[in-house]
Amino acid sequence: MEFKKFKSELEASKYVAKIVIDKIKANSGIKLGLATGSTPVCLYAELAHDYKTNHTNWSQVKTFNLDEYDGVDYASDISYHKFMKDELFNHVNIDTNNTFFPEKECNFDKFIKEEGGIDLQILGIGVNGHIGFNEPGSTENSQTRIVDLTPITVEVNGNKYFDGELDKVPKKAISMGLETIMQSKQIILLAFGKCKEDAIKKLSDAKTFDINFPASILIKHPNVTIIYDEEINI
Ligand code: F6R
Repeated sequence: MEFKKFKSELEASKYVAKIVIDKIKANSGIKLGLATGSTPVCLYAELAHDYKTNHTNWSQVKTFNLDEYDGVDYASDISYHKFMKDELFNHVNIDTNNTFFPEKECNFDKFIKEEGGIDLQILGIGVNGHIGFNEPGSTENSQTRIVDLTPITVEVNGNKYFDGELDKVPKKAISMGLETIMQSKQIILLAFGKCKEDAIKKLSDAKTFDINFPASILIKHPNVTIIYDEEINI
């Protein structure tokens, strides 16, 4: 696991955007695993900016999102489907038929395998070490499934996106499992801001998989880069 520190979220996001763009140029049909939340917003803005100025061709790219809230209307403001359209898909020439999310009654893991697997997975990290919505207690061989969000995740999401109105925050989500994330050929995890410092410290200290800190599974992956900003001191 390689750790790379950047002066700012913007610099870090520009660095990762270049990796994504170069990979699309080298492999027009690349399979990207994507995260939502505040962390990748700047990265997606950089990718949108690149499309506007350089017209990198996304027409053959396929994307697989990590998660979606359970039971939400995909068109609603809180859905991750809508987030991805607003932040990225509406700003590049991706074919929306090539954008996939985990869904009930769909074997997402098998589908990803049949598609040849994820070439590059972008991850964020929760303050409790979740990746995707694999909360503490998620097993190494976990697959796509409905998960209960922990009280801390509900609180963080509630404060960020629901003006602290926790009763409005979905309590369940459907998430790609740890096993499928680990099958990605390359993983880049982004973490910005002081609030992620403890999680990134814990990750850098990890020696083995700790079921109570799901991101620790990444130490077993051969190609993981952790990209973080100067607010995080490890
Ligand atoms: C969402 C996801 C989550 C987030 C994590 C951090 O698709 O995969 O693991 O990355 O909850 O969220 P933010 O970026 O809002 O701090």
